[in-house]
Amino acid sequence: MRILLFLVLSLCPKIYNVMSRNKMKQFAENSVNPIFFQPYYQELLDGFFLKGKWNKEFFKNDHPIILELGCGKGEYTVGLAEKYPDKNFIGIDLKGARMWRGATDAQEKGLNNVAFIRNKVDKLLYFFDHQEVAEIWLTFSDPQPKRERRRLTSPRFLRLYQEALLKDGIVHVKTDSRELFDYTLDVINYFSLPLKYHTFDLYNSGYKGDAPQIQTYYEKIYLAEGKAINYAQFSLNEKLRNSDIYKLPKNDADGE
Ligand SMILES: C[S@@+](CC[C@H](N)C(=O)[O-])C[C@H]1O[C@@H](n2cnc3c(N)ncnc32)[C@H](O)[C@@H]1O
Repeated sequence: MRILLFLVLSLCPKIYNVMSRNKMKQFAENSVNPIFFQPYYQELLDGFFLKGKWNKEFFKNDHPIILELGCGKGEYTVGLAEKYPDKNFIGIDLKGARMWRGATDAQEKGLNNVAFIRNKVDKLLYFFDHQEVAEIWLTFSDPQPKRERRRLTSPRFLRLYQEALLKDGIVHVKTDSRELFDYTLDVINYFSLPLKYHTFDLYNSGYKGDAPQIQTYYEKIYLAEGKAINYAQFSLNEKLRNSDIYKLPKNDADGE
């Protein structure tokens, strides 16, 4: 697919020019959007100015903060923010052009409970203080079949989330990937994490919460392909906090 795209773009410089011009425009708009943050690494090393102060300095309220990690266009960030004006939502992703959509939508809708951060989820603790976050949504995370450490539900990432989350904070996972979902259930099982709900077929489960109410860009593609959507909701515990493993022992994990 990527090779095909490369060939099309090389053979059609005009398409390439229009695409790159669009991206340049989106990047320029992101850079002046007051809800869009993309600090330099040095700013993180010096101490990000909103770490521990999102509510006091940015949202100017004391509402719970909810993150969407690997948010892409930020459908959950914006959709949940509209539904819950008494909660604050922050989307994080590396891809600025995708997040431009969500950041622009949030501004056009006049939402004052939304922000976006362009950075790696790996840098989460440069942005959030101990127990600053109430919930985390992982929406259609890359399954990373060969690189367990990069899966956003690996023990390595869950321990990062645990530092930022309130004690009983919730993690939501929504994915088309049965491989990633089974792996996530293995991690939950390995650490005996409190599993509040899970289903292998969200839209035929009768589940009444937020998970079936919003569909993301990638989700719509997977649904059109006839894929079932998996969803789980769980919290973290002391066994995870006290462990120092980054990957599951071989028998408990596929991939590496
Ligand atoms: C398959 S897309 C899903 C995007 C969106 N949530 C959706 O459902 O349409 C996965 C997203 O996760 C982002 N991502 C993957 N690993 C990441 C990481 N370590 N830090 C930040 N973003 C990451 C990618 O840039 C990509 O936008």
